[in-house]
Amino acid sequence: MNLINSPILGAKVSLHFFTPKPKAIIKNPHNNSHITMMLKKRVNSDESNKLTTTTTEFDDSLESSTTTTTTTKPCLCGRRHFIEATATTLTAATQSATATNSDSEYTALVNKFHPPKPDWYQKFFAWVLNSFTKSYEAEVARYKSQIFSILKEKKANKILEIGIGTGPNLNYYASDSNVQVVGIDPNPEMEKYARSSATSAGFPLSNFEFIHAVGEVIPLSDASVDAVVGTLVLCSVKDVDLTLKEVMRVLRPGGVYVFVEHVAAKDGTFLRFLQGVLDPLQQTIADGCHLSRETGESIAKAGFSSVELDMAILSNATFVNPHVYGIAKK
Ligand SMILES: C[S@@+](CC[C@H](N)C(=O)[O-])C[C@H]1O[C@@H](n2cnc3c(N)ncnc32)[C@H](O)[C@@H]1O
Repeated sequence: MNLINSPILGAKVSLHFFTPKPKAIIKNPHNNSHITMMLKKRVNSDESNKLTTTTTEFDDSLESSTTTTTTTKPCLCGRRHFIEATATTLTAATQSATATNSDSEYTALVNKFHPPKPDWYQKFFAWVLNSFTKSYEAEVARYKSQIFSILKEKKANKILEIGIGTGPNLNYYASDSNVQVVGIDPNPEMEKYARSSATSAGFPLSNFEFIHAVGEVIPLSDASVDAVVGTLVLCSVKDVDLTLKEVMRVLRPGGVYVFVEHVAAKDGTFLRFLQGVLDPLQQTIADGCHLSRETGESIAKAGFSSVELDMAILSNATFVNPHVYGIAKK
C-alpha cells in the first residue's frame, strides 16, 4: 500500500495494488513503517507501458530485507498485471509516492466517513443483509441484467464495486474469467459473505479482492478501472457528491458507472411523508441508509458525459422506493 495525495481531500490516501493478501503487507523492521513498493518512473514515452519499480521485501522473520529493481510490461491478462497497470497510472498521476503509516492514516479516513460501529452491530447488519435480500434480488434481477450487460459489451475487465456488501452482484460477472473485481466496503464483516457469494456464483476468488475502504476516498489510482458498480450504496455513504467525484476519478475515460439506488419518493406523496418520518430510524438500524436522498439528480449532475437513468418500483422494497437504475459514461 502506498500513500498518494488525494486530489479531492488534499489528504494522504492509501493505495492498494490488489495484492492477494493485503494483510501480508509487511512492516519495515527498520522504522516500523509499511512498505511494499515504491514507484519510480515511466521509462519513456515510447515505452509507456513499462514501469520501473523498486520493491523492498522483508522475509517472514522480519530479520532481513532485499531490494530489487525490475522493469515490467503490464498487460491486462491477469491479476498481477492489473496491479501493475494500476501502478503505472498512479505513477503518471502522482509522479512519486511515499509509504509511511499508510494503514493508520487510511483507517482514520475510513472512520471519518464511516464512524466505527460496535462489532456486534456490524456483524448483525451483515447477517441481516445476507439473509433477507433474496426476494429483493430476485425482483431487481431484471433491471440489473439490463444494465450489467454493458460490462460485457464494453469488455470491462477491471471492475470496482463500491459498498459491495455481501456481494449479490458477483454472479453477474461470473461468466467471464477475465473479469477482476475489487469490492470496497467499510464494514469488514461483509467480506466473508462477499467471498462466499463469489464462490457460490463460480466467480474465482483469485480474481476478487475485498478492501476495507469507503467510496469517499477510493484507494485506487486515477483512471484505473473500466467500470464502477454501485447498488444501494449512495443511500449509505456520508458524502454522495464526494463519492461520485471519486467514481469519476478512478474510471478510465470511456468507462462506465452502473448503478441501482433507491431514492426519495415524489414530493407531496404519502410515501414521501412516510420516508421523512422513518428516515432517522432507518439510518439507525440500517447503518446510515437514508430514505429520502435525490440520488438520481446527484448522478445526473456529477459530470458524466452521458447518463441513462430509469425508474422502477419494487414490490419487495416497500417504502424503500422508487429505485433509479442506469448507466453513466465518463
Ligand atoms: C444496503 S447495503 C448494499 C450492499 C450491496 N451493494 C447490495 O447491493 O446488497 C449498503 C452497503 O454500503 C456500505 N457502505 C456504507 N457506507 C459506505 C461508504 N461510505 N462507502 C462505501 N460503502 C459504504 C455498507 O457497509 C453496506 O455494505
